[in-house]
Amino acid sequence: MRHFGDSCLVAESNGDVAGFLLGFRSQRKEDLFFVWQIGVSLSARRQGVAAAILRDLEQRLQSSGIKRIECTIDPENAPSIRLFESLGYVNVANRESETIEVKGHVAAKDFYKPGRHFTIYEKQLDSRWRRVLTDEEERGT
Ligand SMILES: CC(C)(COP(=O)(O)OP(=O)(O)OC[C@H]1O[C@@H](n2cnc3c(N)ncnc32)[C@H](O)[C@@H]1OP(=O)(O)O)[C@@H](O)C(=O)NCCC(=O)NCCS
Repeated sequence: MRHFGDSCLVAESNGDVAGFLLGFRSQRKEDLFFVWQIGVSLSARRQGVAAAILRDLEQRLQSSGIKRIECTIDPENAPSIRLFESLGYVNVANRESETIEVKGHVAAKDFYKPGRHFTIYEKQLDSRWRRVLTDEEERGT
């Protein structure tokens, strides 16, 4: 948090941390925001906290020049895959790498290290909305 806290989010409930998102703008692909981790405390799960954090992230990124959000997910992590798919993220593993099927999901083979196959989910942000915000900014409104 000391070094890229500006691109991380925390959800609080009655003063306690209910959930968090750690992420950053890619240094190599400037139009891409990478979600490194998202987590919700056990007592707050299935109440829409993660979905709310990810929607909030999308809104914050709309006028930033970022066009897509990416997340790599272990194919064994069914809750996380369902979460991202429910928000319109699409698995693009076959675009990025040689693939292997794991638990019915297409995963990038040996993505992080030999034997660690990961799905790669991506969501394109709405370019029409970005354009409207940019026009408003140009008018200074
Ligand atoms: C994955 C995780 C972040 C989901 O957080 P959450 O706040 O419970 O998720 P939400 O309540 O916002 O769920 C939104 C949707 O995701 C899907 N989903 C979330 N948890 C699910 C589960 N356990 N089983 C099935 N679907 C699930 C559902 O479609 C859900 O919508 P619904 O409740 O209307 O059916 C949480 O389970 C977690 O912290 N897991 C451990 C850490 C982790 O695996 N992080 C992801 C690494 S990339």
